[in-house]
Amino acid sequence: MIPPVSIRRYLEVEATPQRAAEIDRIFYESSNTKSFESEDVKAAFRERWLGRYLRHDARFAYVAQIEGGTIVGYLVGATDDPAKTARFADIAYFAELENYTRRFPAHLHVNVRADFRNHGIGAQLIRRFVDDAQRMGVPGVHVVTSADAANVSFYNRNGFAEVARAGRLDSLVFLGCPL
Ligand SMILES: CC(C)(COP(=O)(O)OP(=O)(O)OC[C@H]1O[C@@H](n2cnc3c(N)ncnc32)[C@H](O)[C@@H]1OP(=O)(O)O)[C@@H](O)C(=O)NCCC(=O)NCCS
Repeated sequence: MIPPVSIRRYLEVEATPQRAAEIDRIFYESSNTKSFESEDVKAAFRERWLGRYLRHDARFAYVAQIEGGTIVGYLVGATDDPAKTARFADIAYFAELENYTRRFPAHLHVNVRADFRNHGIGAQLIRRFVDDAQRMGVPGVHVVTSADAANVSFYNRNGFAEVARAGRLDSLVFLGCPL
């Protein structure tokens, strides 16, 4: 059993160093890249997949909290078409996917602390972002993940279906959720 979890907007959570550290811990624990050649490379990696979303798109960030406020999961996202948005120009696969990002412009990154997975928290975080995107009139949401990743079935169960492949040897899959 896990304690009760509530989903809140990141902007409604008091910004303390402890909360920031909890998000960072989940980020590094959940990512496939485990070693970095320097602290600068590590910081750039965080900036790419987390930092800029928390700064620029904070209103599309959500956290899962347990009693006392500890963060056990988060979702960051953006609703601008990333293939047409300068701040995402460093992510090569978006240029390859521009025919699809038009239809599914919003995108997200979701991670749940390892000891809180498989309790529906990831699904709840996605629901909140998808609901907000829908209210804004966004036509669709996408995620890009490894085609062989375990999370593909998680996204399938949450309304995302394969739309396209990208990357070397088509190793990436673009999953779209129409709104
Ligand atoms: C992918 C991830 C975010 C999913 O979060 P989660 O909170 O475990 O997700 P859910 O609990 O909603 O769903 C996970 C599974 O639990 C099952 N589940 C959902 N609600 C449940 C509940 N109340 N009780 C038990 N199991 C449940 C689902 O069927 C799902 O199974 P599936 O993987 O076969 O689809 C999480 O596993 C994670 O952080 N993984 C590592 C990083 C990662 O892959 N992030 C995505 C990057 S693209």
